Amino acid sequence: MKITVIGTGYVGLVVGTCMADMGNDVICVDVDDSKISKLKKGIPTIYEIGLEELLKKNIGENRISFTDDIRSGIQKSDVIFLAVGTPSLEDGNADLSYIEDAAREIARHINGYKVVATKSTVPVGTGKRIKKIIKQQNRDADFDVVSNPEFLREGKAIKDFMNPYRIIIGSDSEKAKRIMLSIYKSMERVGRPILITNLETAELIKYASNAMLATRISFMNQLSCLCEAVGADIKTVAIGLGQDPRIGPRFLQAGVGYGGSCFPKDVKALKARLQEEGCCSELLEAVENINSRQKLVAVEKLKKIIPDLHNKKVAVWGIAFKPNTDDIREAPSVVIIKELQKSGVKIKAFDPIAAKESKKILKNIEYAENPYDVVKGCDALIIVTEWNEFRDLDKEKVRKLMRQPIIIDGRNIYEPDDMGGFNYHGIGRGCDK
Ligand code: UDX
Ligand code: UDX
Repeated sequence: MKITVIGTGYVGLVVGTCMADMGNDVICVDVDDSKISKLKKGIPTIYEIGLEELLKKNIGENRISFTDDIRSGIQKSDVIFLAVGTPSLEDGNADLSYIEDAAREIARHINGYKVVATKSTVPVGTGKRIKKIIKQQNRDADFDVVSNPEFLREGKAIKDFMNPYRIIIGSDSEKAKRIMLSIYKSMERVGRPILITNLETAELIKYASNAMLATRISFMNQLSCLCEAVGADIKTVAIGLGQDPRIGPRFLQAGVGYGGSCFPKDVKALKARLQEEGCCSELLEAVENINSRQKLVAVEKLKKIIPDLHNKKVAVWGIAFKPNTDDIREAPSVVIIKELQKSGVKIKAFDPIAAKESKKILKNIEYAENPYDVVKGCDALIIVTEWNEFRDLDKEKVRKLMRQPIIIDGRNIYEPDDMGGFNYHGIGRGCDK
């Protein structure tokens, strides 16, 4: 199949590269020339495990190309995926201007039947809006619109694309559904479920999935407070809950809150949409409020131990919003560090890969090269991102390097029982009191 992906950001680049690897001829289009020239040389513009290798392989085998010429991208392909950004507007709604621009470009350059498929997370009704825009601009345009949302997790994006939990194809056209099914037939053969729906249902499934996962996290974070009050252990509560197959074990980890480019934005957008349609939105409002408060829990814990933090030195392990990515969008670390700086704290930080991104946003931080150097002379350590390399460190060495052996473990990577010699506090671990 000849495929064009418009928007070569996180989602677009992963989708384009994986589609090429599945044997399709892929053109990736982006307005950003510097991105295109890097990608042409096989240099990934995002950090994602396994991407560079896959990109180079498919460039070498001539299955993927990069261009800023949207016209040729549209004209040379049968299926056009839209993966441009859909950032949040002030009111919480998604900004669809890039999607609309792409629809207008398609109307201008269309030269035969095309399937226009949205990969970006777009509000319910966007598919119909795209249809209307293209029709308004070009009455003769022959096309169908499909919603084919992407469920990629950063750090596991390639694996998630190649082995999806499910593939959602929403459209009102039988022809478009058939074409989309032919793209995914190799995945169906190996048992990956494909759910065929109408446009609106597919669009809603994406928002509902992210909002449901965020709700589970906020539920556990709210319970973590009770665990501390009554002497219960949130990690064991999560195990007990997860053993019920009706609940399942995933996305039940309490911590310093969820971040990233999707959960915060999608919860906000779904909440705004519920309100717009006159439906109740209290649940998602609570999910958001709990998450905002949770980002500050580690700081509150530290202030209970050291009430006057002025001129104290605090080490932060992990800046990325989660491990295996350099992404710091909506990262709890940003809120935590800024809050500590307001109290006059001197911050030292270490992240295996996100320091470069962090330097663009956070100021007055001393960065260290490894997890040991960062704790040297510090009055406390806050663990914000659960990078694997933090799990098996020499704790005695860490303790000796610190001025005061205080650890606030925002991701519960250690067991309170193993933390002798430290003033150690996890999240929701009533047992560490
Ligand atoms: C984006 C959305 O934010 C997310 O909600 C959705 O699920 C998928 O698309 P992401 O891929 O992370 O996520 O966005 P980003 O990295 O910002 O990439 C968007 C790309 O589109 C950028 O490379 C940008 O240059 C490009 N773009 C944007 C265009 O090519 N044309 C435009 O008109 C606008
Ligand atoms: C998410 C969805 O999982 C993915 O399907 C969608 O396409 C994009 O959004 P991503 O944002 O990459 O992916 O990360 P994810 O692994 O889902 O984690 C999101 C946030 O939740 C992180 O900040 C993580 O630390 C937090 N989290 C996750 C918890 O606090 N507890 C958990 O149990 C799981």
